[in-house]
Amino acid sequence: MTVRITLDGRDLDAPEGAVLTTALLGAGQARLGDHAVTGEPRGAWCGMGVCFECEVTVDGDRSVRACLTLVLPGMAVTTGTGTVTADACGTEASATRGAP
Ligand code: FES
Repeated sequence: MTVRITLDGRDLDAPEGAVLTTALLGAGQARLGDHAVTGEPRGAWCGMGVCFECEVTVDGDRSVRACLTLVLPGMAVTTGTGTVTADACGTEASATRGAP
């Protein structure tokens, strides 16, 4: 069954009970935030709760991993609110750019 959620304030119909990352990808929303240091786009990477690349805010709760969250009716999803400052491998951004 399809339910109505909001994504960054826009209405979105999504399959109830689907994994949120899947529903968002299906709606064309791959970018879930930006890297805090480099500004590079972030999105689901591991799909199993390990990398934190998929963090979004759901109903005011920050740091929700979308890959571990199921779509529920009326949920309000906000992208661009992730708190992770390391890359998907757990390496700080400054180290990946070769900074001392
Ligand atoms: S995609 Fe890696 S934690 Fe969600």
